[in-house]
Amino acid sequence: MSQRYTITAALPYTNGPIHIGHLAGVYVPADIYARYMRMQGADVAFVCGSDEHGVPITLKAKKEGITPQDVVDKYHAIIKQSFLDFGITFDNYSRTSAPIHHETASDFFKRMYEKGKFLEETNAQLYDAEANQFLADRFVTGTCPKCGFEEAYGDQCENCGTSHNATDLINPKSAISGAVPSLKETKHWFLPLDQYDAFFKEWILKGHEKDWKSNVYGQCKSWIDDGLRPRAVTRDLDWGIPVPVEGADGKVLYVWFDAPIGYISATKEWAAREGKDWEPYWKDENTKLLHFIGKDNIVFHCIIFPAMLKGHGDYILPDNVPANEFLNLEGNKLSTSKNWAVWLHEYLEDFPDKQDVLRYVLTANAPEGKDNDFTWKDFQQRNKSELSDVLGNFINRVAVLTNKYYDGVVPTPNAFNEIDLKTLEKLRAYPAVIGSSVEKYRFRESLNSLMNLARLGNKYLADEEPWIRIKTDEERVKTVMYVALQIAAALSVLSEPFLPFTSEKLKDIFKTESLETIGWNDVTTQEVLLPSGHKIIEKAPLLFTKIEDAEIQKQLDKLEASKKANEAENAVAEPQKETIGFDDFTKIDMRVGTILEAEKVPKTKKLMKLTVDTGIDTRTIVSGIAESFTAEEIIGKKVTVLVNLAPRALRGVESQGMILMTEDTNGKLVFLNPDTDGVKNGETIN
Ligand code: 2FM
Ligand code: ZN
Repeated sequence: MSQRYTITAALPYTNGPIHIGHLAGVYVPADIYARYMRMQGADVAFVCGSDEHGVPITLKAKKEGITPQDVVDKYHAIIKQSFLDFGITFDNYSRTSAPIHHETASDFFKRMYEKGKFLEETNAQLYDAEANQFLADRFVTGTCPKCGFEEAYGDQCENCGTSHNATDLINPKSAISGAVPSLKETKHWFLPLDQYDAFFKEWILKGHEKDWKSNVYGQCKSWIDDGLRPRAVTRDLDWGIPVPVEGADGKVLYVWFDAPIGYISATKEWAAREGKDWEPYWKDENTKLLHFIGKDNIVFHCIIFPAMLKGHGDYILPDNVPANEFLNLEGNKLSTSKNWAVWLHEYLEDFPDKQDVLRYVLTANAPEGKDNDFTWKDFQQRNKSELSDVLGNFINRVAVLTNKYYDGVVPTPNAFNEIDLKTLEKLRAYPAVIGSSVEKYRFRESLNSLMNLARLGNKYLADEEPWIRIKTDEERVKTVMYVALQIAAALSVLSEPFLPFTSEKLKDIFKTESLETIGWNDVTTQEVLLPSGHKIIEKAPLLFTKIEDAEIQKQLDKLEASKKANEAENAVAEPQKETIGFDDFTKIDMRVGTILEAEKVPKTKKLMKLTVDTGIDTRTIVSGIAESFTAEEIIGKKVTVLVNLAPRALRGVESQGMILMTEDTNGKLVFLNPDTDGVKNGETIN
């Protein structure tokens, strides 16, 4: 019987698309693991889905003036498609608005309720009287009672990761109206985490000290040591799964109660589709349940969900929760609301055939033990110096030389010498080396080992120099190329979990599909991967093409635009200037004018010499607009001219007035031009 794995990847909130932080932290490592385990012959259910409840979605809907359902429909479609196009091999990507999920989550709650696993309490909760709404989770911000961070949410502090109740916040403020909340009595159901104290000490502190990642174990230990407290698992909200018991009108399940149950619903949905039984994947003690998540989700997957599973009684507990730290982007924290992100669906539009480059960079630089930074320059550099120069170069050499010397047919080797035997021996060790890192959730290390196999191939060819020896020792070259072809075949198999699109191309180049399938462990156990006489492709495609500077600059410009837009949104308008009298105002003479001619002032970056028809006369005005406009685009433009400004010389040209301008959010100048074609030049503005 093969080992059964239930592999879950955090359900993304459906209030925005997926970005590279999500990919690096959760989805790429989870996909590598699932693909690898399938190649080991394991029985895998790899599930995920959209997390469609919770406050961020209702806030987004309010902001955009649409319904929460509209929000989740839009992002569910984008997210699902982009995962598919990126090669994430979920067995099922479900959603928490699916009827099967509502039913599963409701039944889960009812079962715990019937077993007396909740505390029912009426107490004072934060309330926004203006918005007529109880404030929990992201509806309220305030100072974190643990670390003092001033923007902590009602259920969690993003700074220190602590999970708390909204009433614990210091100086709370409503995220809806900005009002200081009052307190109002309401009834809720609480999960008494304190009653699970002994269980957690035994299960995590004693049971998982060695096998859980230190960041995960450390966070759990700190919460357990601080003392666990009851947590409300219901909310006064109109978006979510109704609380399925008497006396709970207008209340829904807390999003963090229903979302992880989404893993179970997604498994049920998949099993029904495939004609399988879902229960062993969640109830059989021999199944390994693994949750791939980001570090902000640790408390929910290590404490709250396991307490729910335990309280319910029918389910297994996670075997491991391999959480990653965070990925930053160009030195700053990724942020959906600030649009400081590389969005997966946009990446796929800009780089439609470069899924593996991103998979590679995010894995090579994965935030496994500490936060890490993604930069576009590093992305470009790794594509060149690692993917192209190491892996691409080796494959290209093998394919080209095999075609050149043997018309694409794998040659028959002669006797192997010491170096050949050593190289083949090293090759056979790679599946275990790479696999053992994957099994320990060390994906950077495993990818590096895969690249070492390509490096082994490059070194072997560089040392044996078949392109030189072909002139003197054709028989030796047959052996060398035979060995190199075995390495290439191994790469086509072992690259699959990491670089699935490249792996496909390699299988096309070396035509491995026409052979008995080469599996992961066959690289170790089969003496021959590509037999003599086997024909490979005639003209191999380039595996990794160059990424041009202009493509990188385009991405950097996008980020710069986001930064400017954010600065503008947060910018405080300049304070009003000193009051002036009406007489002062009447001294200012502004007229409607038309730009007749424009030319750049030589040897300056900004200045442009304009000839302007002011209606009074035709005059020269020097204006600092050359970085925002070309001459062609402003000739004929109607503008506002301050005509009685004292003339002054700018770079030797006398300027007789000023064109009135403002700046848009990207720092580009904008003319204050009268919005009428009918207004004559010379009309006064007052
Ligand atoms: O942090 C998040 O994006 C959450 N939506 C993750 C939920 S994981 C789970 F439990 F479903
Ligand atoms: Zn904090």
